[in-house]
Amino acid sequence: MLNVDKAQEIAAGYVTEGQAVRLGSVVVDGQVDASAVIKLPLATLNRHGLVAGATGTGKTKTLQLIAEQCAAAGVPVLLADIKGDLSGLARAGEAGDKVAKRAKETGDDWQPTAFPVQSISLGTGGPGVPVRATITSFGPILLSKVLGLNDTQEATLGLIFHWADQRGLALLDLKDLRSVISHLTSDEGKADLKQLGGVSASTAGVILRSLSNLEAQGGDEFFGEPELAVADLLKAGTISLLEVGELHNKPALFSTFLMWLLAELFQELPEAGDLDKPKLVFVLDEAHLLFSDASKAFLEQIEQTVKLIRSKGVGVFFCTQLPTDIPNAVLSQLGARIQHALRAFTPDDQKALAQTVKTYPTTKHYELDKALTSLGTGEAIVTVLSERGAPTPVAWTRLRAPRSLMGTIGVDAIREAAKASELHAKYAETIDRESAYEKLAAKVAPPPSGQPQEEPQGEPQKDEPGALEKVLTSAPVKSFLRSAASALGREITRGLFGTAKRRR
Ligand SMILES: Nc1ncnc2c1ncn2[C@@H]1O[C@H](COP(=O)(O)OP(=O)(O)OP(=O)(O)O)[C@@H](O)[C@H]1O
Ligand SMILES: [Mg+2]
Repeated sequence: MLNVDKAQEIAAGYVTEGQAVRLGSVVVDGQVDASAVIKLPLATLNRHGLVAGATGTGKTKTLQLIAEQCAAAGVPVLLADIKGDLSGLARAGEAGDKVAKRAKETGDDWQPTAFPVQSISLGTGGPGVPVRATITSFGPILLSKVLGLNDTQEATLGLIFHWADQRGLALLDLKDLRSVISHLTSDEGKADLKQLGGVSASTAGVILRSLSNLEAQGGDEFFGEPELAVADLLKAGTISLLEVGELHNKPALFSTFLMWLLAELFQELPEAGDLDKPKLVFVLDEAHLLFSDASKAFLEQIEQTVKLIRSKGVGVFFCTQLPTDIPNAVLSQLGARIQHALRAFTPDDQKALAQTVKTYPTTKHYELDKALTSLGTGEAIVTVLSERGAPTPVAWTRLRAPRSLMGTIGVDAIREAAKASELHAKYAETIDRESAYEKLAAKVAPPPSGQPQEEPQGEPQKDEPGALEKVLTSAPVKSFLRSAASALGREITRGLFGTAKRRR
């Protein structure tokens, strides 16, 4: 069989009726066939995908390419701009020999094009429009991930949320949470603490200290109001770039924020059924950050979110160096695979390579282990889901070049554009309305009506190590924990991760 015939045979599996992202053209035995086009159907973008590859192999440019064509088709995109190099999406690309060559090889009538971009940043420290979320809305599970709490501490934080929720004490920012915990561990809060049962002052102290760490990392300017409304990310054809900027040193906050957004989207969007194109494409770059040190509960929630968000018309693309960074339960749900070159230097590399090969459909045209290690820059081994939902033939693909600028436009330009953005007026200023901090500062909040506050009986609970464990296993506390858990459980069915709707 001639190489051209092979290329055409592969491309025949990529014919679409509806709109599609044109990724590039088929390569067989080092020869590219411009007319053998590899496409990613918009109709199956909500079946999710993976973009992986070693450093410098072209992952970010692939994301840029996908974002451009989605935007051009009117699909909103959200992606995290870890290194600032995606900000180039806002500016037309530069013509040149390399781009011209690639355009010819991939049958692309390349034109320099700028795309509508809105840049956002977590809190007021970054170059984009500052976006925030409230502590209440984040909920105890996500916050525990941000704070790096263990299971016991996470349970304690859940009880503290429960207490504040019952009292109508709004937890909007970190100082609200801090004041609630400080109250519970103070003399006048002893009775409340006792009523809560499972919370020991020492565990509360650990949580307080972790809050301080987060504050030191700038978390205090992220938690609060006005909270980001997901509708602002759903404007047709607009690319929202999460400019991570200084955030390198708080990866936990960045990745948890993205999970919070997914949970919010799940809550806000109606069931969509099968759509011609997704309502949003959501790209999780540096996805390994999400999974490292994650609790079992957190991982299960990610798995659930990814599974369920599909029916809301949201497509999630994970981007990471090694596919093995992603847990199998999540990996098995990703319909599209765009695998850039892998390295095979170490035994670990080789193991990852062998595992990656296994996740592909069989192909008679390539030796996959060899192919995966010999791909050129801006090339990938691709398989996607066809419009009928079946895996397409494995295709060594030379990717098209992005039409916008490859590289950053610079922090100053990002900042200027953010100031001119529609979102600026809505989100630039932090609002600090009355919440738990102010209420507790004024006076201790009254108990909820119908629930008389118990007088503390006997000796106040001691904080010796092990006290919490004893308390946690006592019968009344167990039943209380169950009811607290079911209260949280209700929130989880309302929103994944136990995130709450904004209380107004
Ligand atoms: N599709 C493409 N078209 C043209 N050039 C490309 C393409 N993909 C990659 N390149 C070239 O390769 C370089 C590296 O690509 P890219 O920044 O996307 O790598 P990466 O995998 O994201 O690396 P890192 O892991 O370091 O972030 C680009 O600067 C560009 O010069
Ligand atoms: Mg990159």
